[in-house]
Amino acid sequence: MISTIPSTTADLASIRLQIRSLQPQLVAWRRRLHQCPELGFQESQTSQFIVHKLTEWGIEHQAGIAKTGVVATIVGDRPGPVLAIRADMDALPIQELNEVPYRSQNDGKMHACGHDGHVTIALGTAYYLARYRECFAGTVKIIFQPAEEGPGGAKPMIEAGVLRQPDVDAIIGLHLWNNLPLGTVGVRDGALMAATELFHCTIYGKGGHGAIPHQTIDSVVVGAHVVNAIQTVVSRSVDPLKAAVVTIGEFHAGTALNVIADQARMSGTVRYFDEAYTHFFSQRLERLIAGICQSYGARYTFDYQSLYPPVINDTDMAELVRTVALSVVETPAGIVPECRTMGGEDMAFFLEEVPGCYFFLGAANEAKNLAYPHHHPRFDFDETALGMGVEIFVRCVEKFCPSR
Ligand code: NI
Repeated sequence: MISTIPSTTADLASIRLQIRSLQPQLVAWRRRLHQCPELGFQESQTSQFIVHKLTEWGIEHQAGIAKTGVVATIVGDRPGPVLAIRADMDALPIQELNEVPYRSQNDGKMHACGHDGHVTIALGTAYYLARYRECFAGTVKIIFQPAEEGPGGAKPMIEAGVLRQPDVDAIIGLHLWNNLPLGTVGVRDGALMAATELFHCTIYGKGGHGAIPHQTIDSVVVGAHVVNAIQTVVSRSVDPLKAAVVTIGEFHAGTALNVIADQARMSGTVRYFDEAYTHFFSQRLERLIAGICQSYGARYTFDYQSLYPPVINDTDMAELVRTVALSVVETPAGIVPECRTMGGEDMAFFLEEVPGCYFFLGAANEAKNLAYPHHHPRFDFDETALGMGVEIFVRCVEKFCPSR
């Protein structure tokens, strides 16, 4: 319980002071969440923890949205716009290797991406805003979303109506980011993260004896040509000023060294930023596969799925976050516009519905050995970033929903 915060209208300096006084609680919540990581759509304890806190603070909320999602609604003193803040809740199927007192207690599961920190920052923001309702005019909806790592909780939450009643005007969200040092914020207009698509392809040849190849259709040879040809999709068919990746991560064929394989299976992922390429890769890949298979007399199946669209930030909302972040990091060098990544995020679905800004909050600290990459079994971040996250969100609310 925190009961020491005086209820006065806060200026910028006192916002910082109040939030800094929250830091020990933020760390405690984050460590508690870190100890009980849960996979996508199974975040029941996480959800209970969130609901418990919101109830304790008298914040209106709805739980059980898209299974484990929670939405908190905080209404300011006067009417005004509606801003949503999104935090993802899920962990990863990774065995934690950190030897810290707050290490994962759930075998084979770990908060290795920092979503425990995202929930904590959103809770800290909710706590602060509920205490200082006079500081903003309008409504803040805090969306605790399940299953970002897969299969994707954003879409079912949108379908459940979390952006309506009241209608959300804009949305913001952050990712703690170990690719950036503590004290920096990665924010930019337009594309921040890539569209994420995947494909599976099986080549059907004709198996036979390894010493009698002329009686066979060698699926390994056909598949190898497909792998090579696919390397030209980005280099020869995509505008060189646009970025894209096609990676074949799996290739399986054969059972013995002297047997010509009947089938070859491959799977891969496609990433790009520009929405103009939305249907391009599925068509280009299949044309290459079909042409190569035909030339060898092989058959194929090709399954292509689009998982997440690109994360596209609205110019005005990115400017709002940039201005606020600058006041928090206090040095222009702390704002990093060159922070795009080919990683994907289902925040993209929210940004398709309403204008918004997703940004990276630098959380790495080499000096404290807190700089392992996301999804690494030794991933951890500098918890100083928790308070910075709350401060950025609170200031964004006060700027987007000004009280006067
Ligand atoms: Ni993540």
